[in-house]
Amino acid sequence: MPHRALTSVPVHPLLAERWSPRSFDPAHTLGDGQLASLLEAARWAASAFNVQPWRFLVGRRGDATFKAVHGALIGFNQRWAGDASVLIAAVAAEFKADGTPVPTAAYDTGLAAAQLTTQAHAEGLHAHQMSGFDPGRLAAAFGIPEGFRPLAVIAVGAVADPERLDDSLRARETAPRERRPLEESFFSGAWGEPVDLRPA
Ligand SMILES: Cc1cc2nc3c(=O)[nH]c(=O)nc-3n(C[C@H](O)[C@H](O)[C@H](O)COP(=O)(O)O)c2cc1C
Repeated sequence: MPHRALTSVPVHPLLAERWSPRSFDPAHTLGDGQLASLLEAARWAASAFNVQPWRFLVGRRGDATFKAVHGALIGFNQRWAGDASVLIAAVAAEFKADGTPVPTAAYDTGLAAAQLTTQAHAEGLHAHQMSGFDPGRLAAAFGIPEGFRPLAVIAVGAVADPERLDDSLRARETAPRERRPLEESFFSGAWGEPVDLRPA
């Protein structure tokens, strides 16, 4: 498992083993049940006041939605994401039906996307989120109304051999996964002061 996260203590395998590949099997298709499970996982995310301020555009490889979402990606992402089995655009609803702003729209939509991604890994699939796309192009292609903000596109499919990728993408695919150490992100007492994780 070369992509498994190197954690200081064990974390759930679903989280430790999740990673974002770019090599997807272009012959793989997602069953209806599997796709439904991804959407249900997102649907049941928590959200502030249970407003559920998210919408998702779901395209399967070969259909018109997939083509339009793929067409809105930046060139770098188009190079690899076309082989995913589905492309899902996550869109935040920034206002309630009565016009009241939803300040947590992006947070809540990200949470729903995280659940979708985790469910994908539970299904033996892989997911790769992307902010590299043109939101205006996506909005025009689908008639997304004002007040709805496209945040990310999520590629989901079956991971394939990195040898399928060109040299520069393959180098990224096989590079070690890295994170900042815990003490640089998790504080206690004062800003910048690391949480003391030694046993009391
Ligand atoms: C919101 C978001 C946007 C991202 N945008 C892109 C992108 O446009 N293209 C890309 O190749 N990867 C993109 N990524 C993937 C990240 O580069 C990747 O998650 C990060 O390097 C950590 O790797 P890991 O997911 O394998 O742990 C994005 C991830 C997130 C969460």
